[in-house]
Amino acid sequence: MEFYDVVNNRRTTREFLKKDVDFDVVKRILEAGNKAPAWDHNRNWQYIVLHTDEEKDRVLSEAKKTADKFDAERYFNMPRPYEITLGQKMYGYAVPRQYTMLKNAPYVVIPLFKFKELNGGKISSLNPFATIWCVIENILLAAAAEGLSCSVRVPLGKEHDVVKSNLKVPPTYTIPAFIGIGYADPNEPRPEQYRPDIDKQIRFGRWK
Ligand SMILES: Cc1cc2nc3c(=O)[nH]c(=O)nc-3n(C[C@H](O)[C@H](O)[C@H](O)COP(=O)(O)O)c2cc1C
Repeated sequence: MEFYDVVNNRRTTREFLKKDVDFDVVKRILEAGNKAPAWDHNRNWQYIVLHTDEEKDRVLSEAKKTADKFDAERYFNMPRPYEITLGQKMYGYAVPRQYTMLKNAPYVVIPLFKFKELNGGKISSLNPFATIWCVIENILLAAAAEGLSCSVRVPLGKEHDVVKSNLKVPPTYTIPAFIGIGYADPNEPRPEQYRPDIDKQIRFGRWK
């Protein structure tokens, strides 16, 4: 697929078809992750790949709790001093799917990066984190180029440490996200997105 078609076609999926994905394709997608620009030059991230229900259950209990306890009807109908925003609509659509969008994805990939501490005031201390998100973006684009689609969940609160411990991940690694990979259900509704206007975002020479 042509590059701009890939960029324009990529979107987050939270409903997958019941159709398995060839592991060689997943491997190609992760190889694309390995081509991302990297801060520490030695590309020392790792990927845990989950495929069986048992493997996924080991990881998804917290995501299930998040989805199960969310009352979408209450959320959408709660009184607001302003009209519900697109971001809030997206949130209300996504939260109930935090478990199924990973459980029903044929593969779930958990990238792991090394990061001693996140307490520096310096922006460069975030370089390991920035790098792993470059990796994730390459993975999302490569999946789109393969005709596949991805879900993305960032672990919340204690979920990160619970999953790390269940997977016996060494202490020096951090999980930035869980990525579901599969064939998108073409009938999934597409929540409306904000469409930034590029002409209003570009400022020539200075702010104004
Ligand atoms: C840093 C980051 C964190 C995200 N975390 C979640 C998440 O926890 N759960 C979820 O359903 N989607 C998550 N997403 C997906 C966004 O909701 C999605 O990218 C956004 O709504 C734009 O939609 P699109 O990807 O279809 O263009 C995340 C995306 C990014 C970049």
